[in-house]
Amino acid sequence: MSQPEMQPGTESDWPVIELRNVTRIYSTGRLEVAALRGVDLDVWQGDFLAIVGPSGSGKSTLMNIIGCLDRPTAGSYRLGGTPIEQLTDDDLARVRGRAIGFVFQSFNLLPRTSALENVATPLLYQGVPRKERYARAAAALERLGLGDRMEHEPSELSGGQQQRVAIARALVGEPALILADEPTGNLDSQSGADVIKLLHELNDAGTTIVMITHDSDVAVQARRQVHVRDGLLVQ
Ligand SMILES: Nc1ncnc2c1ncn2[C@@H]1O[C@H](COP(=O)(O)OP(=O)(O)OP(=O)(O)O)[C@@H](O)[C@H]1O
Ligand SMILES: [Mg+2]
Repeated sequence: MSQPEMQPGTESDWPVIELRNVTRIYSTGRLEVAALRGVDLDVWQGDFLAIVGPSGSGKSTLMNIIGCLDRPTAGSYRLGGTPIEQLTDDDLARVRGRAIGFVFQSFNLLPRTSALENVATPLLYQGVPRKERYARAAAALERLGLGDRMEHEPSELSGGQQQRVAIARALVGEPALILADEPTGNLDSQSGADVIKLLHELNDAGTTIVMITHDSDVAVQARRQVHVRDGLLVQ
């Protein structure tokens, strides 16, 4: 398989993310829901894009496709120049693990597992040796101001701290792309502002960021916004 060329901080001749006429139809028994109805989207290296739209408009569906957690029903998606329809599910999982860091509204940390272990775990799947895994996880947690919380489990951390652990987990593998689905949705305004600041720091260092939000105050802080309505991008 050809590797997507997604090195942070380098110029690319094509968009990192290129969606053409992407549709996604969910079939649940008798009912068909067209969650995306022909989406065109280009995201270039180093961009910081906010995807904005009301509940049910298709934002998470779009994010799942961009993050290779799901595939389009029709249309094409190139990630780092590679058409993902040509990749097997195993290839997709590898691309996901190497190139993309995820941040979710509900943090999605492993329960009853220390912050350090949560952050180190993705590196296991990249084959990083144990000692280096823990050193890198500790460094990521330090960077996010959680050096004194490494042995805490998620239930022993505040929401803002849990989201910082989740961001440490997303960035520990040095992905070229960070996808964040409502990263501030469960946070108070100060913790939310801290998270946005962190995303900006990562973006300044070359990481491409795509963030979903339905909060226009959060969206205006991105470099660029696209709006989703009823499964379509609108200006
Ligand atoms: N797995 C699924 N099966 C069937 N329908 C689904 C599925 N996931 C989403 N949908 C439908 O697709 C549409 C888009 O859902 P999606 O989760 O992408 O919206 P969203 O913009 O992320 O909303 P929210 O802001 O509430 O998170 C909705 O009408 C939803 O009911
Ligand atoms: Mg959603």
